[in-house]
Amino acid sequence: MKNRIYYFTGTGNSLRTAMKIAEKMGETELISMKADPESVPATDCDTIGFVYPVYHWTVPEPVINFVKKLKINRNAYFFAVANPSFICGFACERMAKLLHKKGADLNYGSFVNSVANYVIVYPPFPPAKLMVPLMEKKTDRIAEEIAQRKERPYPRAGRMVRARFQKFMGPYLELQQYADQPFTVSDECIGCGLCSRVCPCNNIKITDGKPSFQHHCANCMACVTSCPKRAIGYEITKGDRELLNASNSKTGLVKIMGLPAKRKLYRNPYITVQDLTKEKFEL
Ligand SMILES: Cc1cc2nc3c(=O)[nH]c(=O)nc-3n(C[C@H](O)[C@H](O)[C@H](O)COP(=O)(O)O)c2cc1C
Ligand code: SF4
Ligand code: SF4
Repeated sequence: MKNRIYYFTGTGNSLRTAMKIAEKMGETELISMKADPESVPATDCDTIGFVYPVYHWTVPEPVINFVKKLKINRNAYFFAVANPSFICGFACERMAKLLHKKGADLNYGSFVNSVANYVIVYPPFPPAKLMVPLMEKKTDRIAEEIAQRKERPYPRAGRMVRARFQKFMGPYLELQQYADQPFTVSDECIGCGLCSRVCPCNNIKITDGKPSFQHHCANCMACVTSCPKRAIGYEITKGDRELLNASNSKTGLVKIMGLPAKRKLYRNPYITVQDLTKEKFEL
């Protein structure tokens, strides 16, 4: 029996979920979606799982691109576990559709409400002290069911999300192409390269001892949260705003995006920065 979980994570919630499921299943390979999907096919796997955060009420774009290119064993047991803060939306439905296109069925779908990590928009909430024990508990339940290869109909988007998705989320999805434009790097940067190693999108190059952003950012918050010098900031300048307006993006969110110096950052307390740099675990 060969078990494999592919995970995408910025601040460790999804990695923690993936690890707990892997521990319960036993003998499971965990592979980061940082990898080139063509180099990590799942054609010989009997259990194939996907664990990821929810962005803009759906599956993060890098996860969609990864799954589209991944070669799979269509007859495997498939599961998906999304890690939203509050709104799971289309995050499981979309995954089911991606798999369906490959001739496979999603046997089990669920979600774990988690600490909201979008720290360039808001401070992390609810407090980790309250939320993490609940996340742990729900993940234990899910891990038990998956280890027993149970079937669970995946959660679907509610009526509100379905009706408002395009109006509310369309502009944010459009903004993604400019997602890393407002990042700043202060003189505190020591050129250690950690931001580049934790980035799940391979979006950061270290050039002349400083990070440079390559414009395929998912805004996952890994670099911001992991920098030992807190050197990465986020500031929407007049030029950025013009760019954002040029995209016809009518979104109130842009007005409040930024990273005040005292903003609390977040990383799942069970996950280390070293864990975020890894591409593979065998549990
Ligand atoms: C760009 C971005 C968009 C997000 N959109 C949503 C969302 O639509 N719904 C939601 O419930 N949480 C949303 N969140 C919160 C994350 O899904 C949540 O904090 C997740 O657990 C983070 O997982 P990670 O620690 O594995 O990166 C968003 C976070 C980011 C960074
Ligand atoms: S992690 Fe921080 S200090 Fe290290 S290279 Fe990146 S920005 Fe500079
Ligand atoms: S550049 Fe930073 S925020 Fe963007 S995907 Fe990479 S780690 Fe995440």
